[in-house]
Amino acid sequence: MNRDKKLVVAMVGLPAMGKSTVALKLKENLDKEDVRVAVFNNGDVRRRMLPGNTAHAGFYNPENAETASLREHIAATNMAEARAFLSAGGQIAILDATNVSPKRRETIRATFPDMPILFIECRNDDPALLDLSIDRKIRGQEFAHLPENEAKKSFRERIGYYRHILRSLTPEDGNGVILDSLNNRILLERADSLLPYYARIRDLLVSDWIKNLFLARHGQSEDNLAGRIGGDTDLTETGRSQAWALSRHFIGTPIPYVFTSTKRRTQEMAEPLVTARQYCSVFAFTEFDEIDAGECEGMTPAEIKERRPEVYAARSLDKYRYTYPGGESYEILAERVERGLKKAFFLSGNAENILIVGHQAVNRVILSHFLFRRAEDVPYIYIPQDRYFHIVSTHTKKLFELKKF
Ligand code: F6P
Repeated sequence: MNRDKKLVVAMVGLPAMGKSTVALKLKENLDKEDVRVAVFNNGDVRRRMLPGNTAHAGFYNPENAETASLREHIAATNMAEARAFLSAGGQIAILDATNVSPKRRETIRATFPDMPILFIECRNDDPALLDLSIDRKIRGQEFAHLPENEAKKSFRERIGYYRHILRSLTPEDGNGVILDSLNNRILLERADSLLPYYARIRDLLVSDWIKNLFLARHGQSEDNLAGRIGGDTDLTETGRSQAWALSRHFIGTPIPYVFTSTKRRTQEMAEPLVTARQYCSVFAFTEFDEIDAGECEGMTPAEIKERRPEVYAARSLDKYRYTYPGGESYEILAERVERGLKKAFFLSGNAENILIVGHQAVNRVILSHFLFRRAEDVPYIYIPQDRYFHIVSTHTKKLFELKKF
């Protein structure tokens, strides 16, 4: 590899848009390929230079001349460190900061006049996801001194200040890519294909980065015991001991993010594992709720066969596409589960390990996201309650294992 080739990558986007996750994804993957790459994060420089409280929104008010010049100074220091890295043999320097104003991007170009620059703008317009991202951000050390609602308000205000000066990338910015960071999709591309490392970076931007996903189903519930479908019952004694076994199995494994459905049985399944660890954020998504059986909720399959023979027969003929009266089909379920997965991956960022506790139909759909299955086979995938799937899906590694806990 030609070590003389240099590239400056500058992230662009409002806070909580996934910029740092993308920056780390590029770094970790390119590191493995022996490219000398480093991330230069303005926030890290800020915390180092100003160890006092700079998390309050006023610090980001562009009208405040004093803090605005401090922020310029921080950005300049960060860029100088990136330059020094590139001069000392580094190949790619990633500037991880908002860089939302044309003026700031002009400063970047002026600091690196002799090097190619690639701007990567991260976008994500889902307001619900922004709320969840803010929830996650304020769990950080910087906000520890504030009550939750004040921390949220302050972070929103900070975003507001940046939104005020935000200008999306334009042709004047030079090489740029606009990325939908929730769906790993390139929305707009204006980059010279001969830009050093570009093909590699582009490929990484659109690829999965699931380091370790543990996918479990809830343990036995009261409804499972009675053979009834759907509902929202608690775990049985057996189910609770399965929950403890899951927690014991993962003792010593950091799992900073756990995702469940909004149903009691998945939350009870996760509970021992979550309470056993200090750093663990739990998100309950409706997207991971079990398939809605509509008018058949709460019935046993035998009751459906007897009382609703037309439902039973039609579902047996095409289980994937059949929609329960007033409920869902697997096909419909798959759409929302896919949304839930995207949200979970976005929120867990670059976490080494995450756990999803789902349901039988939900987990079938999640598995089919990773493993190719014909649609008609998906509703028959075996989903036990005392085992979990360990899934890895990165650019260089695919792994899929069913393990006992
Ligand atoms: O029986 C447990 C359950 O999770 C039900 O709540 C759900 O309706 C069903 O499994 C989904 O599996 P299938 O599509 O095979 O009926």
